[in-house]
Amino acid sequence: MLGTGTVGAAFVARYQRLQSRGLALPKVAWLANSRSVQACGSGLDAALEQAIAAPRRELLLQGWAEAEALHEGDIVVDATASELVADWHPEWLVRGVSVVTANKLGHGSLLARSQAITEAQCATGARYGDSATVGAGLPLLGSLRALVAGGDRIHAVEGVLSGSLGWLFGRFDGTCPFSDCVREAAAAGYTEPDPRVDLSGEDVRRKLLILARAAGLALEPAQVRVESLLPAALAAAAPGEVDGLLHLLDAPLAARLQQARDTGGKLRFVGRFDAHGATVGLRTLPADHPLCGGSGADNRVAVSSDRYPVQPLVIQGPGAGAEVTAAALLDDVLRISAA
Ligand SMILES: NC(=O)c1ccc[n+]([C@@H]2O[C@H](COP(=O)([O-])OP(=O)(O)OC[C@H]3O[C@@H](n4cnc5c(N)ncnc54)[C@H](OP(=O)(O)O)[C@@H]3O)[C@@H](O)[C@H]2O)c1
Repeated sequence: MLGTGTVGAAFVARYQRLQSRGLALPKVAWLANSRSVQACGSGLDAALEQAIAAPRRELLLQGWAEAEALHEGDIVVDATASELVADWHPEWLVRGVSVVTANKLGHGSLLARSQAITEAQCATGARYGDSATVGAGLPLLGSLRALVAGGDRIHAVEGVLSGSLGWLFGRFDGTCPFSDCVREAAAAGYTEPDPRVDLSGEDVRRKLLILARAAGLALEPAQVRVESLLPAALAAAAPGEVDGLLHLLDAPLAARLQQARDTGGKLRFVGRFDAHGATVGLRTLPADHPLCGGSGADNRVAVSSDRYPVQPLVIQGPGAGAEVTAAALLDDVLRISAA
């Protein structure tokens, strides 16, 4: 188990809840963060506590990479956002170790890494559980892969893939400046600590790449055209200056809201791919469009394919947050260990 942050801790809490209800779960051998590796022999709680209390280090730890405990048939759970850890995904699979991940950098970043993951899986039969990476376990990736396995060609996928941006554009009605909505979302824990991670569209680019690759499209990150919401000065600001510059969002977004209203539409931050390419950005949608439904931090995705050529398959539900993400990770662990 890698990562003892928000998702890692929620995973441990859920694991213990299910265990206390008598569910048979595979043993957690060790857990690690960037600072320490802890064996779980004397209990998960104690190991989690010690890992969280470990001192900061100059160099990121990689002791987990060659951890003795890793054997063919084992499962590594990646609850980090680390590039270093994602680089290990294909390597573990080649060794017959299955990987379960909330880290989007496996299939959501470099095409070469994504292809190496698929090839390693085919070569060894080790499994890759990534349902937590898009929609936090909503039946999204599984449905897309099932359509492809059933012979359907995917015509288009479009969705509100970011819980925080979904919440923001559901909330932003012009009664207060957009920057106030961003602060409100941050205070409620809907955004990343630095809201620019959400507002730049980068998180949605990764999720869209994961969906596109599941649909069989070999896209490079640069082939997704991303329209960032960040004005240049805000994008370039030091972390300490961000709050003071959020007001730069207000005038352009008030203008976009007015334009949308003039046409009877609604603003939604949408990722989309089809035969013509892949885009991420703010769009004005008709008020009765499937992506305008839902509420709060819901994700909503519409899939058109051979069998759904006119009315898309729409999947909607809570797609963000540590609890549902941890549940998706544990679901994948149980699916793999039961196989
Ligand atoms: N939070 C959510 O609601 C949510 C929802 C969906 C998906 N996700 C995804 O889930 C992942 C984890 O998110 P989070 O919110 O839990 O992040 P977080 O609180 O920042 O925790 C990240 C954890 O990863 C560890 N880590 C970083 N580099 C590492 C390395 N090289 N080796 C081992 N451990 C390393 C960190 O170690 P230290 O403790 O030593 O810093 C930390 O424990 C991310 O990929 C995120 O995008 C999160």
